[in-house]
Amino acid sequence: MNLDIVILAAGRGTRMRSTKPKVMHDFLGKPFLEKVIETAQILKPKKIIPIIGYQAEEIKNYFKSHDLHFVIQDQQLGTGHAVIQAIPKLDSEYTMILYGDVPLVCCNILQELLTATTKTGMGLVTYLKKIPQGFGRIVRDQKTKQIIKIVEEKDCDKSQLLINEINTGIMCIKTDFLNQWLLKLNNNNAQKEYYLTDIIELAVNDHVKITEVVSKNENTIQGVNSIKELIDLERSYMKEKAQLLIDQGVKIMDPARIDIRGSLLCEEGVVIDIGCIFEGDVILKKGTHIGPYNIIKDSTIGEDNQLLAFNHIDQAIIGQGCSIGPYSRIRPATHLSNNINIGNFVELKKSTVGKDTKINHLSYIGDSKVGERVNVGAGTITCNYDGVNKHQTIIEDDVFIGSGTQLVAPVIIKKGATIGAGSTIVEDTPENMLTLSRASQKSISNWQRPKKK
Ligand code: UD1
Ligand code: CA
Repeated sequence: MNLDIVILAAGRGTRMRSTKPKVMHDFLGKPFLEKVIETAQILKPKKIIPIIGYQAEEIKNYFKSHDLHFVIQDQQLGTGHAVIQAIPKLDSEYTMILYGDVPLVCCNILQELLTATTKTGMGLVTYLKKIPQGFGRIVRDQKTKQIIKIVEEKDCDKSQLLINEINTGIMCIKTDFLNQWLLKLNNNNAQKEYYLTDIIELAVNDHVKITEVVSKNENTIQGVNSIKELIDLERSYMKEKAQLLIDQGVKIMDPARIDIRGSLLCEEGVVIDIGCIFEGDVILKKGTHIGPYNIIKDSTIGEDNQLLAFNHIDQAIIGQGCSIGPYSRIRPATHLSNNINIGNFVELKKSTVGKDTKINHLSYIGDSKVGERVNVGAGTITCNYDGVNKHQTIIEDDVFIGSGTQLVAPVIIKKGATIGAGSTIVEDTPENMLTLSRASQKSISNWQRPKKK
């Protein structure tokens, strides 16, 4: 695309009351600026040019693996002044302006804005806001209804303060025009700043029509100035997501008590109880029931599973018809097949588990391949780590492992084997036999308990 995208992010964000730059604050799991950059990338621009100033080195360092063209604005003399710093880098036909503190800006409206801009040379995203306080107001010609200027709130007269159409700040301009207009900006205004918004009047003087795109979704144009606004916007976004899922037939027990911090896709018949947190990309398939207080990150949960309360599931794939928890921890690279029971206080890591297997109580299974129809007794652990390296445990089909067993990896428990409770297994065990490693039981008749001296 013949487009450069400039992202204004030089301010400190004093009202955040934090030493961290505003755009590096976490919004639903990622810094604001990263969210905006990801959205910008969808448009496939030639360059993404973040304008930074406050703690520029820290910001650059965080994004060192991204393909970005940073520009430093040492002193923050206004939004127009910020864009002027980018002029040497602008070499596409169009330039779009985004804001590092508007994290939910969405690519649909940007696409619309771009189309609008190609028509007249300048496009602007506006929004009709009931309470317009804090925003620049859009002034239109009484007769033609064309946009003629933007007036910042601090510069508004009484009648302009009553205007409900506000400037979102998001705009797109033919780069040739932008360069000319930027050079004509001055700071004769209430804040003694170089306002980017003044280019609207300059455009009108040059007979360039401003094509507006009126946003319908407040969240996508909402800027954040304080922690309160940050929390409110996160909550508003999550409620909106929850509502969309409810409209698709997902039963969310309380849409005010769900956190969807990434993408959550649900199939029909899914039920989600209160207090759950979904991070990254999560898929819940048909008929799955998520009990209260589950934390699920980057995982796919198959059809008809029952997740009881308080599980923590991270980067796992779960098949169909399983019962999980309460209180299980399923760690990255775990793959469960179908009809599996994972009970309380069971931790699984980097393991596959075959169908119809039960690991019901107090176990650690790591770096393991567990077969089908296996029963892992309470308190069984795989000793996968020798202090330096990790080793694999293989438990084949139809194995029964007695409670309180330690399986010292690398080790293979062959098909149909039974392991006596309380064993420490250090060597491979044969198929279909009972193996046990504990000392035989004895009783000592003359033994006396120690007495207090
Ligand atoms: C700006 C608009 C206003 C609009 C509002 C929407 C101007 C003059 N005003 O006002 O019309 O309604 O956004 O949210 O453009 N920044 C820099 N360098 C600077 C100044 C600002 O990088 O010298 C960055 C800030 O870090 C921030 C963004 O630009 O990310 C917006 O700046 P801010 O001061 O918050 O502008 P507003 O007063 O909100
Ligand atoms: Ca602002």
